[in-house]
Amino acid sequence: MAVRNCTEFLARRVLKYNSVRNTIYAIPTRASSWWSYVLEGEPDPILGIKDQFNLDTNPNKMNLGVGCYRDDNGKPYVLPCVRKAEEIIRSKKLDKEYLDISGLTEFTKASAILAFGEDSEILKRKRNVTVQGISGTGSLCLGAHLCGKLFPGIKEIWLPNPTWGNHRLIFKYANLQLNHYRYYDPETCGFDAGAAFEDLSSIPENSIVLFHACAHNPTGVDPTPHQWKVMSEIVKMRNLLPFFDMAYQGFASGDVDKDAAAVRIFAEDGHLLALAQSFSKNMGLYGERVGAFTLVCESEEEAKRVESQLKVIVRAMYTTPPLSGPRIVETILNTPELKTQWLRELKGMAYRIMLMRQQLVDNLEKEGSTRNWQHITDQIGMFCYTGLTIEQVDRITKEFGIHLTKDGRINVAGITSKNNHYLAHAIHEVTKHDTVPSVSPFSDTSTEPERAHAQ
Ligand SMILES: Cc1ncc(COP(=O)(O)O)c(C=O)c1O
Repeated sequence: MAVRNCTEFLARRVLKYNSVRNTIYAIPTRASSWWSYVLEGEPDPILGIKDQFNLDTNPNKMNLGVGCYRDDNGKPYVLPCVRKAEEIIRSKKLDKEYLDISGLTEFTKASAILAFGEDSEILKRKRNVTVQGISGTGSLCLGAHLCGKLFPGIKEIWLPNPTWGNHRLIFKYANLQLNHYRYYDPETCGFDAGAAFEDLSSIPENSIVLFHACAHNPTGVDPTPHQWKVMSEIVKMRNLLPFFDMAYQGFASGDVDKDAAAVRIFAEDGHLLALAQSFSKNMGLYGERVGAFTLVCESEEEAKRVESQLKVIVRAMYTTPPLSGPRIVETILNTPELKTQWLRELKGMAYRIMLMRQQLVDNLEKEGSTRNWQHITDQIGMFCYTGLTIEQVDRITKEFGIHLTKDGRINVAGITSKNNHYLAHAIHEVTKHDTVPSVSPFSDTSTEPERAHAQ
């Protein structure tokens, strides 16, 4: 029957509603969950190690999985220069207003100088856009999203194999396709220069390539300055956008300028590079989440336009970045006495790591190991790719309570002078019956002076 007018239509709806109401007694409050189809996400392998470690009842247990610096008592370390900077900031009784979208200017300027050097032509000509990021991860994300949105070339990023696990997630979520170039040679536990050069040379032109600026995570294997120079040439030939992740400046050699060599070589060679910096490790500001993202542009005017686009990304994600961490970093970097103190304390952390490496090799020798462990001292930074197999990792965890990632990576900063011999003993016990090629990790073309960087 046709509905004649609006009143009749409404009257019929009310009638229908009343009849339904009289017959349905249990009206569901909502439809079934929107999320019932969602599968469990993959747990973070490193955090999983922490849980496994906490459950372990072995009194000698060691956690070598976590990526944080520990002092020689195995305790978290707050740098005294950070404590001093906090006191200075507190005494100023500053307000808590929102920062500018691109962050604290005194911080972003100091951060760029730390990376590119006081005399950088790029900085003098204001060809850089540097914005504050939420630590290294957030800074990588800003760059990744900028590329995902506006990079005019091929939206593919080439990562070293292996690389920090989170790189894959960060760039995937920014809609970049992932590819890998060869980097690490398991035979030598060193940099596979030949394979890396070959793969880099065949990356499609106008793509993006990621480099760890120093202290490669997870391998601890860095190219020499000469090898960086070669890679810079290849990247130029292929017209690639080099994207540097510098999460460990100063942590590798103990010298912030030496550790920035790769970035500075590429900058001097004229690359319009991208750079993500982190202050988690080198200032021990893990939970403060301080970092910066820089893009080198053709001109100051271009840098301003790119900055406006980065601001759009920040605005959509979190409006403005946090305030406390960058104030600490800025106070340290812009106060000469505090900066000197920081450089000394940073060196102290880097040197303790180097000492633990050397002691581990010495202790392995004392244990009677005849294997070549030179890669432990040749690799640099916080991480060491021990070369332990997955079975050996399994054994060392179960039998000795030593917890590390399945790929055999250990955080050298988690070793102390008290438990170093225990670790050496455990490594020897799980490796002594397995035969491995006894080769030097530096069987490539690297020269002695260049290798000095790695000590
Ligand atoms: C290679 C690499 N990049 C970036 C980061 C990011 O660290 P954060 O976000 O804590 O600064 C890390 C941390 O482990 C790392 O190892």
